[in-house]
Amino acid sequence: MKNIVCLISGRGSNLEALLAAAKSEQWEDTIGARVAAVISNCAGAGGLAIAQAVGLPARVLAQAQFATRAAFDTALAALIDEYDPALVVLAGFMRVLTGAFVDRYGGRLINIHPSLLPSFRGLATHQAALAAGVRVHGATVHFVGREVDGGPIIAQAAVPVAPGDTEGTLAARVLAQEHRLLPRCVRLLLAGRIRLVAGHVEYDGVAAADIALLEPMIQ
Ligand code: GRF
Repeated sequence: MKNIVCLISGRGSNLEALLAAAKSEQWEDTIGARVAAVISNCAGAGGLAIAQAVGLPARVLAQAQFATRAAFDTALAALIDEYDPALVVLAGFMRVLTGAFVDRYGGRLINIHPSLLPSFRGLATHQAALAAGVRVHGATVHFVGREVDGGPIIAQAAVPVAPGDTEGTLAARVLAQEHRLLPRCVRLLLAGRIRLVAGHVEYDGVAAADIALLEPMIQ
């Protein structure tokens, strides 16, 4: 069985979408994969309850206990490795990881970011998109690189920016697409149909519709 370890910091709606897909698509039988554990750097993360509700290990590694970033990442890696992961998913994990951590999980560490990278790295992406006046916004799933919100792009979902959008309405539109995008990326990765080879993403039998999600125009 290929284990997925999810790292979260907050409400865990992407985790929830992943768990729902794993269940409805029967990943254990179809691709021999399962979410094995959820780890949070915040004890108060809402997503921990989502994990507990389905009987998953919900582990907390409180960052305040560690003097340095390197020490935290070493402890995090030790915790993750208890589950021998085929894939580590950053599903709203709001913490910058060290290069050593990123290298350790090369090719099996992915992140979901709420913008069409390389635009709008970092925080407050919806606010930044509105301020920039872009008419198309979205979300990206990418392999994690040493640069924050960098690394090879796996798949993207685009949404229109409507006149009158607020940060809230835009965030909700993007989030709905995140919930479609992340599970399908995870499924394709675990099925071996998406791989990182020498720093480039290779696709095997993957349709454009799987990796370029285009939301129908809103009227
Ligand atoms: C999502 O918007 C994700 O793209 C970003 O953090 C947010 C996490 O939301 N990295 P949730 O905890 O999955 O609901």
